[in-house]
Amino acid sequence: MNMHGSITRRNFFKSASAIGAGALIGHEVSSPSQLMAQADGASKPVVIASKNGLQATAKAMTLIQEGADALDAVIAGVNLVEDDPNENSVGLGGLPNEEGIVELDASVMHGPTGRGGCVASLRNIKNPSKVAKVLMERTDHVLIVGEGALRFARAHGFKEENLLTEESRQAWLRWKENLSTTDDWLPPHDIETKGIGMNRGPAYRNHGTINCNAVDLRGGISGCTSTSGLSYKIPGRVGDSPILGAGLYVDNEVGAAGSTGRGEANLLACSSVMVVEFMRQGKSPEEACLQACQRIVDQTKMKRLLDEQGRPKFDVVFYAINKRGQFGAGALWSGERFTVNTGEKDSRQLEMPFLFKRGA
Ligand code: GLY
Repeated sequence: MNMHGSITRRNFFKSASAIGAGALIGHEVSSPSQLMAQADGASKPVVIASKNGLQATAKAMTLIQEGADALDAVIAGVNLVEDDPNENSVGLGGLPNEEGIVELDASVMHGPTGRGGCVASLRNIKNPSKVAKVLMERTDHVLIVGEGALRFARAHGFKEENLLTEESRQAWLRWKENLSTTDDWLPPHDIETKGIGMNRGPAYRNHGTINCNAVDLRGGISGCTSTSGLSYKIPGRVGDSPILGAGLYVDNEVGAAGSTGRGEANLLACSSVMVVEFMRQGKSPEEACLQACQRIVDQTKMKRLLDEQGRPKFDVVFYAINKRGQFGAGALWSGERFTVNTGEKDSRQLEMPFLFKRGA
């Protein structure tokens, strides 16, 4: 154990695979390593995504098998999630900032041409991933934010719409009404009501995001990350998703990695580029993801972010693929899942390898 009470670098791969790797959800059981073994050898198409990526990975793999470029495929997959009003962490229906306004972040990276595009704090446009791709293709810039990003999207014909669904507005209002005991916003209550107006802290905040990465039939590697970011954030807050190197990174000779979870922790570690570099050094995608998780643990020193055993109270999750079509993922905490499609059967969800078991 190190000073945080966590497992050491030497041991964590062993314990992660012993505890965490493995069960297939909804279909037959198989482990990530079995599936990776199937994908061993020559470059094979693969799509990996966060747990909200079942439809996205299926769509992306269908397009890849029809000959599509990996970037077009992952963006088409992510667009399904951005367009879904019931997915409250991405695109339309995403949870808003503290003023009740939805602000979206996204990044794309195209391995074969070594290009990328990102937008942050984009309002009124439900597909920030598409805007990021247009930025990559039609400008000399890599990152554009806020009002400038909205004007850029308008100039390229993107349709503006209100992204706040009734469900997300009501969730935001519940959050605001329960924010603290010192402001004037209270939920409906009567003389007997207890426990309202208490700041319930980060457990009630949402960092949901989609990351989707793919290898196509030509061995081209690309990725996309899209999010409405931390729910009820300070307006203008930007997480890791639209920052290349943090929420997404692609190197066409090595692989791709992306993240979901607490963006602030990942911005301080720049872990997606780290995952790709670990794979370049010979680590498997799973080993690289878990090593990046361990780096976040090692770099988290503020006590307010640590539990009694010195472990981060938050989670960060990484998803990675390499040039050969091998895939893997890793999280700080147990209980997560990721999605994969190797083109041989339907998209499937796998339990995520992890560093710490919840409740232990
Ligand atoms: N990982 C998404 C965010 O923190 O905004």
